[in-house]
Amino acid sequence: MKPKILVTRSVFPEVIEHLSQHFEIDYNDQDVALPADELAARLSDKVGAITMLSDRIDEAALRSAPNLKAVCNVAVGHNNFDLAAISAAGVMATNTPGVLNDTTADTAWALLLASGRRIVGADKWVRDGQWQGWKFHDDWRGHDIHHATLGILGMGRIGQAVARRAAGFEMRVIYHNRSRLAPEQEQACQATLVSKEELLRESDFLVLLLPYSPATHHVIGAAEIAQMKPTAHLINIARGGIVDDGALIEALQNKTIAGAGLDVFENEPALDARYFALDNVVLTPHIGSSTRATRLAMAMLAADNLIAALAGRRPPNLVNP
Ligand code: DGY
Repeated sequence: MKPKILVTRSVFPEVIEHLSQHFEIDYNDQDVALPADELAARLSDKVGAITMLSDRIDEAALRSAPNLKAVCNVAVGHNNFDLAAISAAGVMATNTPGVLNDTTADTAWALLLASGRRIVGADKWVRDGQWQGWKFHDDWRGHDIHHATLGILGMGRIGQAVARRAAGFEMRVIYHNRSRLAPEQEQACQATLVSKEELLRESDFLVLLLPYSPATHHVIGAAEIAQMKPTAHLINIARGGIVDDGALIEALQNKTIAGAGLDVFENEPALDARYFALDNVVLTPHIGSSTRATRLAMAMLAADNLIAALAGRRPPNLVNP
C-alpha cells in the first residue's frame, strides 16, 4: 500500500503523475483553497501534504493529523506555516527556493519599469480615447530608470537576481540586509551595503524582498516612507504585511513618494479600495513567480521534497531543521 498524501489544490498533471508513482493521492483538483476545517479533516489520515501559501498549517490543522510527517509548500515564502507548531508536532516543513528567482526578479523589474515610466496609466489613457496627438509637454513624464539608484531591502537570492539586472540600466545598486554578501556576490551584483536609513534616503527605486514574519511586519510604515525621496518608487514583490498599506496609500495620495508597484498586499485579495482611486500605483495579483515553467518547477521541487522526506531522507529544502 502506498502512503497517503494530500495535494491541497490544483497543480499540473505531470506533478500528480510524478507523485502518484510514490503515493496514494487525495487531490483537490480545484484551484481554490480548502476551508480550514476541510483541510484539517483531509489531513487526518495523511502522512504528507503538498501545500500552497493559501493553506494555514498551524496547531489546529495539525491536531487531527497524528501521522503527518511532512508539509511541502509550493512557494519560497512559508509564512502560512506556524513553524513552531509544525516542529513541535515532529513534522518536516519545506519550501521551494531557487527555482523562482529569475521569474520573480523579472516581475519586480516589470513593476519597476511600469511604475517609473507610468506605463499602465498611459495605456488606459490611450484606450479611453484621450490621446489627441503627440505633445512635447505631455502628461506622462516619468522617472529615468537608467543611472538611477536601485535600493534592495532583503538581499537574498531574488534580491541578487534583481540587482544583476540593473547593470543594463547602468544603475547604482545599494542594499540593506541582515548580513553582508560575500565579496564575489557583491561583485556580481555591483551592489554596496548601506544602512536602512541610507537605503530609504538614497533609493530612486526601492524593491522589497524580505521574508515575512512578525519581525518584518510593517517594516515599511509612515516613518520609513517619510525618509524616501518625493520622486521615489516603492516596489513590493515579497509579502503584503511588510508594508503598512494605510501609510503607503496616504503617502501616494499626498505624493510623499512618486509611485508604487505592488504585487502583494495585506489581506489579499481584499485590497484596501483606496488603491483603486490612485493613478500612481501599479497593482498586480501576486504573480511574481507566475510563468508555466516556474510554477511547474516549484511544484516539482515540492514533490521531490515530499518524496525525500517520506523516504526517510533529509528533504533538500527543509525549513525547520
Ligand atoms: C512564493 O514563492 O513565496 C511566491 O509568493 C508564490 O508565488
